[in-house]
Amino acid sequence: MPSVASRAFWKTIANVMALEMKPINVGLLGIGTVGGGTYTVLTRNEAEITRRAGRPIRISVVAEQNLELARRVTAGKVRITDDAFSVVTDPGVDIVVELIGGCGVAKELVLKAIENGKHVVTANKALLAKHGNEIFAAAQRKGVMVAFEAAVAGGIPIIKALREGLTANRIQWIAGIINGTTNFILSEMRDKGLPFADVLKEAQRLGYAEADPTFDIEGIDAAHKLTIMAAIAFGIPMQFDKVHIEGISRLEADDIKYAEQLGYRIKLLGITKRRADGIELRVHPTLIPTRRLIANVEGAMNAVLVQGDAVGATLYYGKGAGAEPTASAVIADLVDVTRMHTADPEHRVPHLAFQPDAMANIPILPTAEIETSYYLRLRVEDKPGVLADITRVLADQDISIDAMIQREPGDGEEQTDIIMLTHLTREKRIDAAIAKIESLPVVKKKVIRLRLEELDK
Ligand code: HSE
Repeated sequence: MPSVASRAFWKTIANVMALEMKPINVGLLGIGTVGGGTYTVLTRNEAEITRRAGRPIRISVVAEQNLELARRVTAGKVRITDDAFSVVTDPGVDIVVELIGGCGVAKELVLKAIENGKHVVTANKALLAKHGNEIFAAAQRKGVMVAFEAAVAGGIPIIKALREGLTANRIQWIAGIINGTTNFILSEMRDKGLPFADVLKEAQRLGYAEADPTFDIEGIDAAHKLTIMAAIAFGIPMQFDKVHIEGISRLEADDIKYAEQLGYRIKLLGITKRRADGIELRVHPTLIPTRRLIANVEGAMNAVLVQGDAVGATLYYGKGAGAEPTASAVIADLVDVTRMHTADPEHRVPHLAFQPDAMANIPILPTAEIETSYYLRLRVEDKPGVLADITRVLADQDISIDAMIQREPGDGEEQTDIIMLTHLTREKRIDAAIAKIESLPVVKKKVIRLRLEELDK
């Protein structure tokens, strides 16, 4: 005959087991490319995911404007609505997955979901980069989780790596190829020697670039992702408005060719660096040594290089977009939330990797204070003394030259290109030098200036 105590014990165990096997209910907002991928992968790998999460993860409702699409993807197996607000207030929904994008209705829905005590999983980089501080503060107050692995570099688990895997480290810098569209365009420009405009058209025809490609080619998408990575790497608030952003639309095929001759490849990098006086936050085309692994990331692939003081350099590589790669990240977050669902909020992994009361107010350095090396291309008269004039201007600004090549002038040509690489300097020094160089009568065009990173320490 079991004792009262042991009967109570078995009852508790039975309750815990029943709770654990009870599905966690997901409300999916948007069933386009990523939403469709999420549905497909969750369904296909259901048994495996349940074994990992400890209980089934079930999409219980889908909100989608295109009802026909939603019916087709879910084969009529899931409740469908075109009213996303009814999902974020639905008492039966535990986790809201926001895959609508943008900062309009998506922001309202995410805040409403949090207000209603739902955990949120989102792939929305723009929303977090611009309104993340408000969203995480609201989540903190409500004791709910906001997970965002899919917002940066698609299927690459870079958020998890920065937030958890590298948690022992003082992160020193991050340099990432975090936009597949621009990496595809740069790879094609280099491979085929074609100008930017031609390759962009081809990328649009192949579906790599959007009809309006501005967000990608002007570096805005990369800046959103960089903002998020910097926040969790350094424990600082999201500061998208302080990112220095330059895209690739003005990049010339000649510079890609000259960079190759000097042993460098041009990539659109998102770079964030901790310096003694603040943090650099910048997106721009960058020369990097061809021998680095990251320089060989081609086509639409993404890669992120992270330098930690203990671990040294680590490199993360994979697909930065697409239905199933991005779904892989969304579902990883769903599993995390499911595992931590019943944990006391104080004992969960903090949203931004650092405890909310331990965030730092480190200044973001202005562009003039960026410290890097430079590539300069100058169109000059081909006559004695030209190089001496130019190097004098650089020396006056304390800028040291690392390498130089001169294009062989064609028959009868009186002008030529000089390409120079500098050692490390400050942006304000190179700008002052360029202004002086451009005023020399022997210099015939505006100087082309690109930044260069060795990525070695
Ligand atoms: N448009 C992005 C890219 C993918 O080209 O990488 C989504 O952020």
